[in-house]
Amino acid sequence: LCLISGSANLPLSQEVGQYLSMELTPTVCKRFADGEIYIQILESIRGCDVYLIQPTCRPVNDHLMELMIMIDACRRASARQITAVLPYSGYARADRKTAGRESITAKLVANLITKAGADRVLAMDLHSAQVQGFFDVPLDHVYGSPILLDYLQSKQLSDIVVVSPDVGGVGRARAFAKQLNDAPLAIVDKRRQVHNVAEVMNLIGEVQGKTAVLVDDMIDTAGTITEAAKLLRKEGARQVYACATHAVFSPPAHERLSSGYFEEVIVTNTIPLVDENRFPQLTVLSVA
Ligand code: R5P
Repeated sequence: LCLISGSANLPLSQEVGQYLSMELTPTVCKRFADGEIYIQILESIRGCDVYLIQPTCRPVNDHLMELMIMIDACRRASARQITAVLPYSGYARADRKTAGRESITAKLVANLITKAGADRVLAMDLHSAQVQGFFDVPLDHVYGSPILLDYLQSKQLSDIVVVSPDVGGVGRARAFAKQLNDAPLAIVDKRRQVHNVAEVMNLIGEVQGKTAVLVDDMIDTAGTITEAAKLLRKEGARQVYACATHAVFSPPAHERLSSGYFEEVIVTNTIPLVDENRFPQLTVLSVA
């Protein structure tokens, strides 16, 4: 078995290594003058089961290309089996055509990763479970929810209502609610007219006087979750917590999340957090 880290989230890979009592296999990853990526594995991995850890987070295209080059390097070094471990999968939201003449980029990315030579994939909280089927190799789909739930349970919150910030996330929120003593569910009916701009329309369910726990797969610009939180406050929620596996945190996420609508924002470390994105109400849990 060997563990190799890309450059996207070295602290997470190191934590996984500690958990397994394993050293990361040393590699060189550098750039040529024109931006091309150079990878070399510095030890023999002939016949090894290789786990390559690389979330394809921002800069998504660079991290994706780096992953494919690492896979190719491992394949050419005669690894027995290569598992691409994707704590976060960039482009997973592009999983269908929503207008004419668009690409289904999530499928294209699955093709590229497979074609590069990954024998298996381990992915966390894919935006939609169907993306599993885009890969023609075995894929293990794991979730951050047990870690988020453990933490929430330890807080012993009372009178919880679990809220999905959009209709697409209802399945996820329902599963979450079940684990929180079958808490009731509410749904925000979000309409999106422009990419990355969320517009909240309606709330389905009762939140008056309750502790609302918003659950999503990711927080990107935080438009979705903040608009939902505003609505919950307006509808009388006593407290609003936000939980998401992936802290994408593109601007202006920091301003939105720290603007006073949330008691706490709970995320995991599938994507490394830059210091500018930290704020007092933020809790980061480890998925290592
Ligand atoms: C969308 O369907 C996803 O589940 C997230 O709600 C969305 O991608 C978050 O994006 P943002 O934070 O930019 O609103």
